[in-house]
Amino acid sequence: MRRGIFIFFSVMFLLFSSPSESQSAEPNWSSISKKTITLFYPGQTSWEFLNSRDHGLGARNIKRVKKSCNKCHVDESGVFDLMADEIATGKKKKKKTKAPFEPKPLPGKKGFMDAEVQAAFDANFIYMKVSWKSIGASSKDATLAGENLADRISIQFNKKHKHFKKYGCFIACHDTNRYMPLSPSKDMVKANPYYSKIKRDEVKLYAFYTRNQKQDGKNKLWEWDDFIDKGSLTALTSEGMMDLWEAEFKGSKVEAEDEWIFEDRQKDKQGDLEASGGWKNGSYSVVFKRKLSTGDKYDVELASGDTITLGIAIHDGKMGGRQHYVTFPITLGIGAKGDIKAKKIN
Ligand code: HEC
Repeated sequence: MRRGIFIFFSVMFLLFSSPSESQSAEPNWSSISKKTITLFYPGQTSWEFLNSRDHGLGARNIKRVKKSCNKCHVDESGVFDLMADEIATGKKKKKKTKAPFEPKPLPGKKGFMDAEVQAAFDANFIYMKVSWKSIGASSKDATLAGENLADRISIQFNKKHKHFKKYGCFIACHDTNRYMPLSPSKDMVKANPYYSKIKRDEVKLYAFYTRNQKQDGKNKLWEWDDFIDKGSLTALTSEGMMDLWEAEFKGSKVEAEDEWIFEDRQKDKQGDLEASGGWKNGSYSVVFKRKLSTGDKYDVELASGDTITLGIAIHDGKMGGRQHYVTFPITLGIGAKGDIKAKKIN
């Protein structure tokens, strides 16, 4: 009888385990080249700031969608021309408005940090590994996760949109987001038809092109509650949707979250993302794994031959909400050119 059950389960296993998934072994990371990426502390560097007179020549250039952030702020040898150290300590103020970039500086934070990135792909999956030096706060103390201070990494990406290619995550960061200087009251958000329908009382990240553009003197605004019409929104979805992968370190566990950003930031109901890793010898490392093609409209579909644009954000050492390190846009080539090249395996 027991033998019968064993044979039954063996046959079921052979019948239902998909050959493609069982063949996809984790990449041998020691054979894949590492790219060092620099992240910086942006404080409240919103899309509105970037398009305002406060950003001087930068704003005029962004209006014409000419140079990327990197072109003006990073030289050929990778050296940054950006006052991120002064932003992190709270010293740097916006020129015209005199508002500090960081009104609530965290003690001891530097302006820059480095991370190492590797990527690989096979017939079905893409794999991305990111590592960075850290004291491992939420790995040592899982209760930090309950205070929303878990160390974590988020990767935003998109394949097609011209603004994301040049300006990365900054296209989704607004003065009216939660934790930002002009965030609306909870009552105002709850009274708005879009947010009341999804039972929310705060405004999360949104791509600026999902709102109408207004002129405020010489500055531009994209009000949180001034959505473009439904038809235009639908037409923009495939080009303008950003995929968002997140991994949080909670004690010895790593939790993956598949999300998206478009007219709002939301969890993807179809979770296609896996993450593994942890903190060891003074460094975090995480490996993301996802099917190249998921058939989910809230995911950016990937394929060999694609070059996609990424923005990476890291919360490290008791950073909550908007307080994080971020990258300017980076390209990832999947069997194609890019700042990071995913290696074909298997
Ligand atoms: C055409 C060049 C140009 C582009 C493109 C540009 N910037 Fe700037 N940026 C500047 C200049 C010039 C300043 C200094 C402005 C001033 O103080 O008058 C500046 C200032 C800043 C500051 C304030 C800190 C500092 O070092 O002065 C931040 C933060 C910043 N830029 C972020 C960005 C981001 C993010 C992007 C892309 C979304 C971007 N910039 C795109 C030219 C540019």
